[in-house]
Amino acid sequence: MKILVTGGCGYIGSHTVVELLNNNYEVVIIDNLSNSKKEVIDNIKRITGKDVTFYEGNVQDKSLLDKIFKENKIYAVIHFAGFKAVGESVREPLKYYENNLDSTLYLLEKMKEYGCKNFIFSSSATVYGKPDKLPIKEDFPLSTTNPYGTTKLMIEGILKDVYNADKLNITILRYFNPIGAHESGLLGENPNDIPNNLMPYIVKVATGELECLSVFGNDYDTHDGTGVRDYIHVVDLAKGHIKALEHIGGLHYYNLGTGNGYSVLDIVNTFSKVNNVKVNYKITDRRPGDIDACYADSSLAFKELGWKATKGLEEMCKDSYNYVIKNK
Ligand code: WQD
Repeated sequence: MKILVTGGCGYIGSHTVVELLNNNYEVVIIDNLSNSKKEVIDNIKRITGKDVTFYEGNVQDKSLLDKIFKENKIYAVIHFAGFKAVGESVREPLKYYENNLDSTLYLLEKMKEYGCKNFIFSSSATVYGKPDKLPIKEDFPLSTTNPYGTTKLMIEGILKDVYNADKLNITILRYFNPIGAHESGLLGENPNDIPNNLMPYIVKVATGELECLSVFGNDYDTHDGTGVRDYIHVVDLAKGHIKALEHIGGLHYYNLGTGNGYSVLDIVNTFSKVNNVKVNYKITDRRPGDIDACYADSSLAFKELGWKATKGLEEMCKDSYNYVIKNK
C-alpha cells in the first residue's frame, strides 16, 4: 500500500517514513525542503535499505498534487508539512494561516477527487491551551494562544466537517513534545537558525555552538519552578503513526505522549548526566504564552491502537546528542 507523506523529509516525517518502510508500506514523499534537506532520503535508504518516491514541491501546488495522485494509487495521506514555530507565527500570522490551511484544504480536495479515503493529521497538544487539570485527555476543552496553535485547531475543525460530509477516515494525532533521534544518528533535528525549542537549544549549548541556555522562568507552579512538559521520543511518536494507520476508520483523536512530565531542569540535568557534558544555563524571565505544565493521558491510544511510548528520558537525551555529534 502506498502512503503519501507530506513533509516526509522533516524531523517527525522522516522518522515516520522509516517506520512505514520497516512495516512494508510503500512511501511517496512531497516536501519543499524549506525546513529539511534532500539527503534525508539517502539516510532513510541507509537505515531501511528501501527507496521512496520523492516529489519536491509545495503541497499548495495543485498541479503537483494531480501528478502525484495520477502517478500513484495512494491508500492514505499522513500530513506533516506545515510551519510550526510559535514565535514566528505571532510575528507573521498570515504566512502561517495561508501555508498551513491552504496546504491542508488543497490536499483534502485532491484526496476527494482521486478517491483517497484515509487521512492522518499531525496536530499538537498546543490545542489544549492552558489545561485546568492534568494529565490531559482528548475530550478536554480546546483553546489556543498563538497563530500556529490556532492553525492546528482550525484544521481539526475543518477535518470534523469533512468527516461529517464525506465520511473520510480521519485520525488526528496530538503530539506533545517530540525530542530524540533515530539510534543510527542518521536522522534527527538540528535547526540551522537559533532554536525555539528546548532540546535543540540544549544540544547547541552542549556542542559550544551557543553559549548559554536561558531557562524561561523558575516561578511556575511545578516541582522545581521551571516549565514541565511531556517529552516523547520521536521514534515512539513515529510508531504511533503506524498503529494509527493500521486502525484507521471513522474520526478519532489521540494524545501521543508518555504521560510523564519533566521540567526544564530535569531535561538539562539528565542531558548532562547521560552525555557527560556541561550545559551552561541561566534563569531568565518567562517566555510570553508559556504554560506551567502539560503532560498527556495517552491511555486511549493504548486502549484503541495498542500503542504506548517505550523510550525513556535518558534515551531521548542520548539520541538527541548522538545525532548532532555524528553530523558535525
Ligand atoms: C519546552 C519548555 C519552555 C526553550 C512548542 C509548541 C508545540 C510543539 C513543541 C511544534 C518550556 C522551556 C524552551 C528555551 C526554555 N511545536 N524553554 N528555554 O513550548 O512546550 O511547545 O514546541 O510542533 O506545539 O507549542 O516547547 O521546547 O519551546 O519549550 O526554558 O530556550 O522549555 O519555557 O517550558 P513548547 P519548547
